[in-house]
Amino acid sequence: EQQKRRLIRERIRDFPDFPSPGIIFRDISPMLKDPVAFKTAIDLLESYIKASHQDIDYIAGLDSRGFLFGPVLAQRLGVGFLLVRKKGKLPGSTESVSYALEYGKAELEVQKDAVKPGQKVIIVDDLLATGGTMRAACELMTKLQADILDCLVLIELTFLKGVEALKPFP
Ligand code: PRP
Ligand code: MG
Repeated sequence: EQQKRRLIRERIRDFPDFPSPGIIFRDISPMLKDPVAFKTAIDLLESYIKASHQDIDYIAGLDSRGFLFGPVLAQRLGVGFLLVRKKGKLPGSTESVSYALEYGKAELEVQKDAVKPGQKVIIVDDLLATGGTMRAACELMTKLQADILDCLVLIELTFLKGVEALKPFP
């Protein structure tokens, strides 16, 4: 387990001051390029979910880097995948929530019929920074009366205390 985490860490590059001054961009490209490291990342997330939750209805992935992990995990678990997208990308009736990002402001959207009330959802993204993105996703799922089982990320920037933003959610 420790070794697996180390491998993933070795495959994430830091780019200081990208996309704006003061931000250290965590680049997961080397990890995605290495099939062993990429598989290891999915394995870790999968085994965590299997040990912690049963009866999952959907994995919800956050546009766009959450789409790199969410669908693979959903397939592994044999459940469906939901798109939580940036504003203006989804057709039909939608719910939206705006949020402040580490750099700038944005809005996330989900189709109103994505989940039925009470359905069990795990939200997946690549990284938790300020927690604004994950929090917006939780708010969206709450609007749809989904049952949020968990919020998962591969990388947590602990010094930004993003988990604090998720406190109102289970
Ligand atoms: C990045 C990252 C997370 C979010 C984390 O996404 O993929 O989704 O920021 O930041 P936060 O915890 O401060 O909200 P970004 O909005 O840059 O877009 P992308 O996933 O489309 O690259
Ligand atoms: Mg993102």
